[in-house]
Amino acid sequence: MEDKIRMMISEEEIAKRVGELAEQINEKYKGKEITLICILKGSIFFTADLARRLNGPVKMEYMRCSSYGDSTNSSGEVKVVIDVDCDIEGKDVIVVEDIVDTGRTLWHLMNMLKERKPQSLALAALLDKPERRVKEVAVDYVGFTIPDEFVVGYGLDFAQKHRELPYIGVVENE
Ligand code: IMP
Repeated sequence: MEDKIRMMISEEEIAKRVGELAEQINEKYKGKEITLICILKGSIFFTADLARRLNGPVKMEYMRCSSYGDSTNSSGEVKVVIDVDCDIEGKDVIVVEDIVDTGRTLWHLMNMLKERKPQSLALAALLDKPERRVKEVAVDYVGFTIPDEFVVGYGLDFAQKHRELPYIGVVENE
């Protein structure tokens, strides 16, 4: 069966908001070198679009995590499957994530990265679903706060499908 997808956030709205976030970051970092950590796979489009709107020198790094938690296990461990290939000690780091849902993944990840002693550590998330939060995570740059609906597109998937959509939508199968 083909998935029916209802548009939630258009391509134009995403582009406008990513530009606004980049402006905030440019203002704050004022030409300092920024190390962006793109969390694979979901945040590739967001990271690519954001990086191209930043003024300062930008280093791109990639991480991939897998979560062993389930919906009933709030202490679910996070395993790093692909790690950055540089030392982030003394760097100004911004973690770029597609969506903060329960917050478990980023709670573990941000704590892990803090231990590596970056000069500064911030978090940019395109989407935030605060209703589902289990672990408190401070999100410094939020694209859109959305209701508790499962979204796809602009990098986000449903069983590895729909990442290529240029907009954010909700799968609405009967
Ligand atoms: P958390 O640890 O529960 O915050 O989950 C974060 C991860 O779950 C995200 O990086 C996504 O990969 C995935 N995720 C959570 N909500 C959605 C959604 O609505 N659509 C697609 N993936 C989601």
